[in-house]
Amino acid sequence: MKNLGLHEIRKEFLEFFKSKDHLILKSFPLIPKQDKSLLLIGAGMAPMKKYFTGELTPPSKRVSTCQKCIRTGDIENVGLTDRHATFFEMLGNFSFGDYFKHEAISWAWEFLTEHLELPKDKLWVTVFYEDEEAYKIWRDEIHIPEERIVKMGKEDNFWELEVGPSGPCSEIYVDRGEEYGCGDPDCKPGCECDRFIEVWNLVFTQFDKDEAGVYHPLAHPNIDTGMGLERIATVLQNTNNIFEIDAIKNIIEKIEELSNYKYKTDNKKDISVRVITDHARAMTFMISDTVRPSNEGRGYVLRRLIRRAARHGRLLGIKRAFLSEIADLIIDSWSVEYDDLKENREKIKEVIRIEEEKFLETIDQGMNILNSYLEELDKENTKVLPGDKAFKLYDTYGFPIDLTIEILEDSGYEVDRKGFDENMEEQRRRARESRDHDQIGWTSKESEHYYEDLNTEFTGYSDDESDSKIVRIVLNGEVVDSACEGQRAIFVLDKTPFYGEGGGQVGDIGTVTSDNFEIDIIDTKKTSKGIVLMIGDVTAGIAKVGSDVHTEIDVERRNNIRRNHSVTHLLHKALKEVLGNHVNQAGSLVRDDYMRFDFTHFEAISQEDLKKIEEIVNKEIFRALPVETIITNPKEAAELGAVGLFEEKYGDIVRVVKMGDFSIELCGGTHVKNTSEIGMFKILQEGGISSGVRRVECITGPAVYKYLNENIEQIDRISKLVKANKSEIEHKIETTQNELKEAQKEIEIIKKDKAKSEVDNVLDTKFEIDGGFGLVYKFENMDVSTLRDLADTVKDKLGSAVVVFSTVNEGKLNFVAAASNEISKKYNAGSIVREVAKICGGSGGGRPTMATAGASDLTKVDEALNFAKKLLTE
Ligand code: ALA
Repeated sequence: MKNLGLHEIRKEFLEFFKSKDHLILKSFPLIPKQDKSLLLIGAGMAPMKKYFTGELTPPSKRVSTCQKCIRTGDIENVGLTDRHATFFEMLGNFSFGDYFKHEAISWAWEFLTEHLELPKDKLWVTVFYEDEEAYKIWRDEIHIPEERIVKMGKEDNFWELEVGPSGPCSEIYVDRGEEYGCGDPDCKPGCECDRFIEVWNLVFTQFDKDEAGVYHPLAHPNIDTGMGLERIATVLQNTNNIFEIDAIKNIIEKIEELSNYKYKTDNKKDISVRVITDHARAMTFMISDTVRPSNEGRGYVLRRLIRRAARHGRLLGIKRAFLSEIADLIIDSWSVEYDDLKENREKIKEVIRIEEEKFLETIDQGMNILNSYLEELDKENTKVLPGDKAFKLYDTYGFPIDLTIEILEDSGYEVDRKGFDENMEEQRRRARESRDHDQIGWTSKESEHYYEDLNTEFTGYSDDESDSKIVRIVLNGEVVDSACEGQRAIFVLDKTPFYGEGGGQVGDIGTVTSDNFEIDIIDTKKTSKGIVLMIGDVTAGIAKVGSDVHTEIDVERRNNIRRNHSVTHLLHKALKEVLGNHVNQAGSLVRDDYMRFDFTHFEAISQEDLKKIEEIVNKEIFRALPVETIITNPKEAAELGAVGLFEEKYGDIVRVVKMGDFSIELCGGTHVKNTSEIGMFKILQEGGISSGVRRVECITGPAVYKYLNENIEQIDRISKLVKANKSEIEHKIETTQNELKEAQKEIEIIKKDKAKSEVDNVLDTKFEIDGGFGLVYKFENMDVSTLRDLADTVKDKLGSAVVVFSTVNEGKLNFVAAASNEISKKYNAGSIVREVAKICGGSGGGRPTMATAGASDLTKVDEALNFAKKLLTE
């Protein structure tokens, strides 16, 4: 068997098929072309479907490729095992109506046995049970003994995608030897264990499956074969799995270097290493093929891969964005075959870095919240996270639901998925309703004619209440004279202090009353001509056009809106001062409970700058600047230095809001009279919303007071929990963590000692037999592979010995027998284990020096072991 590197095998394969007159094509991109049935290319034939069906003419009737592939069906298992991967390369040779089974089979055989020099007696094949032709070719032309040709059903030996070319297939397996096996004497291809691995699938493509699942025979039969490059490399390099082959091992070494963790010293951390190793390859290739992170389709797959890998980096203790460095190594190694990687190097690294950094920011925040949720669950003694909490993580902290599920699963919790879906649906419903709300058109252009003849005076800059007259009522899209109790209608007054939503500021709520009726105003908007429309529910009596009324806005709410609006001006100015003059307002939302401000800027704001900005705004609040409004014309406003959009929408008269010597802006909103009324200002969040636009979310006044109090109370609770004064909390946590680490180290040492003394105990039970020692021992909860190692160790320690062990692990009974070379001629481990297992209704086998067996009758273990002892001594 030749020992070849990953990149060498690829080359050998393509050169071999070139010598068989195949046209060698470069790998197709991972994004399928004009094929809606596939998200990503997951097989060598996938990009060539139309050559098989005859829709397109291939450049040659014989083609061979090494195709990059991604399969995400098993993404949850990637890392958990060392068999799963999302990214892999598939070697393939294809015939479009040219050669068929004879050539496909004999070339595959020739390549494996003559070029890769795999031993013929180690190869097994499977065929579709009805495919006599393939069976005979293997038996009569290739001369494989019948017992190594296994017939299988459609599930195993029929290859197809959702739609497209498909057909029966024949697979080639490599027997890796009994030591990889389950011990079952009947073990063969198809068995779950690691002994037989499938390396090559030869598909005899005869059908085209349509969307309804109907198979249409193709005009001519084709050949489609696929051999996993990494798989065949594990065979040639004689490694246990794909993570140990040459090029991939290099990635693991890089991760070891970055994390300071040695692979294979901690099972849990190994999972993280494998996730990163696999996902890093997938993301590098995807980005090179122009996929970008997003919330849909391929983009979501990519986002998920990057986020998952980033999270596992955290689990390994890597504190910074590191994935682009891994990508560098992958690009260096794989660009021997994929030129595009090198060309796109900078882009690939940039896309990974930005997505990873963005995610790390949210992950810290989200993890804190998630952990606090978990503490609550523990207190309530439940393992199910309520759906609304999972939704909050998704909605507010950008945690994809899959990630939440995965993190929870790791520690034995689960998500109320139904509850989550309900919350999601509820959000969609609200969004729909708010759209519909606008669609009923109470401010839409079509309905403006209801109000065209009217005028309203807005008195809300200075007043919170007014005595007014109802001049119009519109009910269900009709102008009416009155609206009675229980009806919702639009009311227009001759004058009103209610602010109609505009300039980012929300509308007011409040009451309209007269001696005969009451109206609860739930929102206020305005028409394009500035007429204020108040939507309200009549709660008592009959409201009539012409009635004299008294209006009152909800003052407390409005005061909070004033604070939040005025502070946007201070913030705008502070942003320009700290970040530069390129900052311009790009939008805002001013509500009573918080405000949000969007502005032009190209990168995330550092914590330091955010702090500076917050400090400036607070300083201007504490300076108690008077707020003046000046009504003037645009020219004069510009001369005063006001910022804002001097466009036609302001007309000839503009309103300028001036806050002391600090800020001057055009604005139609409602404001505090003095900046000191804002009270205090706090930035809660900063993030990007589109390219070049950032968003900050902030609170003022009472909301800050509440926020700070909650934080202080939390620290108080922490201080009680860790039993330390506030000033000593950090120190206390640090020492506790260190103590914990020390204790863990000690536990490790004790565990090792215990294992050692267990071996000593086991050794103590040895007895003499002909030519050495015998040893029989019953273990509990030990897995078979550990037991095999232990059997080897014990056997070697005793010099010349035969050992027989049993273990009951997770309800399963297994036996292991091992014998030293010389003594095994007399005491054959294979026969011993078989006879011993038989007592417990089991079977097994193996080599004379090492064998295993499984059995079912747990009640007869002692009897079986006594029998073993007898076998050895008599
Ligand atoms: N299309 C076949 C497979 O992917 C070769 O296994």
